[in-house]
Amino acid sequence: MAARTSRLPAFYKITIPERREAVAEATGVPTAELEAALDAGGLDGEVADKFVENVLGTYALPLGVALNVRVNGEDFVAPMVVEEPSVVAAASNAAKMVREGGGFHAEADPPVMTSQIQVYDVADVTSARDRLLAAADDLLSLARAAVPGLVERGGGPVDLEVRALSSDMLVVHVHVDCRDAMGANLVNTIAEAVGDRVASLARGKLGLRILSNLCDRRRVRVSCLVPARALATETLAGELVVDGVVNASRFAELDPYRAATHNKGIMNGVDAVVIATGNDWRAVEAGAHAFATRSGRYAPLATWRRVERDDEVCLRGELELPLALGTVGGTLRVHPAARLSLRLMGVGSARALAMVAASVGLASNLSALRALATDGIQRGHMALHARSVALAAGASGPEVERVATLIVEAREITLEGATRALGVLRGAAASPLHR
Ligand code: MEV
Repeated sequence: MAARTSRLPAFYKITIPERREAVAEATGVPTAELEAALDAGGLDGEVADKFVENVLGTYALPLGVALNVRVNGEDFVAPMVVEEPSVVAAASNAAKMVREGGGFHAEADPPVMTSQIQVYDVADVTSARDRLLAAADDLLSLARAAVPGLVERGGGPVDLEVRALSSDMLVVHVHVDCRDAMGANLVNTIAEAVGDRVASLARGKLGLRILSNLCDRRRVRVSCLVPARALATETLAGELVVDGVVNASRFAELDPYRAATHNKGIMNGVDAVVIATGNDWRAVEAGAHAFATRSGRYAPLATWRRVERDDEVCLRGELELPLALGTVGGTLRVHPAARLSLRLMGVGSARALAMVAASVGLASNLSALRALATDGIQRGHMALHARSVALAAGASGPEVERVATLIVEAREITLEGATRALGVLRGAAASPLHR
């Protein structure tokens, strides 16, 4: 097979069947597999009934692909499941700019998750801590015995830590290498397996036994260097766009109100890949925002600076966040579209998946900041929003684009505006002049 590519020019202009063929060719995943996984909305009712309780049906969202994504010298077609217009296009456009500077550079920590065992009503937390640390090897063996399959795959408990939380409460952390699993079930199993022993060593009462979603030993770091020329808009020189993005970054660094929205823009990309690959986006969100407060103040997960490389002005972006993602187990075992997403990406491990998801997050952030620092976000957004309004008004096929254009031009992106435009369009088509 030819090397994977994520450069598929004019992809947005072709039909869905044509896009499937293009992606099949670019990734080596046969078109028939795309059809089989996606035609039924990715999940049939019977399978859905096994997922959760009281099922009435399924609830579909669009699955698109981010293009142009290059990470550590390799191309990735990145599936994104998201309801918000322009998120997929924005990530693809920014990834194209990043590509001009060599693409994203990413690294991920080993896939270590943390299991928490709370003990309360402890008479003396200092001596309890000493006893627990002295028994660390025994506790780790007990933990290892609870997850033999994981140990066989080369993972398992790697470290134990005791944290005093107050004069009568402590928590034991068992850090677990979860290999290619997200790991929630594995670390919860471990917490329950060692809980009684931990409480008896601490001479206190056993409390909660559950994973921590602040998986700060499982971080991913992504950076990129974008030449100013790649960032220029129709009306603004690249260097001015660099300054605008840096200014936007500083705003987020100084103000938690802005940092929250800045991070939301990053999570637009990260979550969409997380959902497409059947992973737990609530866990990822919880971890990301908790990590964003690590300095004691809520801060942006990604920052941007102006740098010079070989006499050229460039924009350097850096993103770091914890990402607990799996490529085996959980939803992936049963969700055909999630399995397809992984096949399209061609990632061989949970760490590789985390690096691609974070790169799409950094691309989403760049695209939002570039738009905000230049034209503002509404122009592009409105054009896409107009299409959904046109659809809601009953437009179909080529009518959608024409109605959308009419209501954008008339600055009337409302259902009434679209209904009127559709009426005019259909009236014109029915007039004798058009027959
Ligand atoms: C909208 O989904 C995301 C943005 O608000 C992000 C940002 O402001 O950086 C555009």
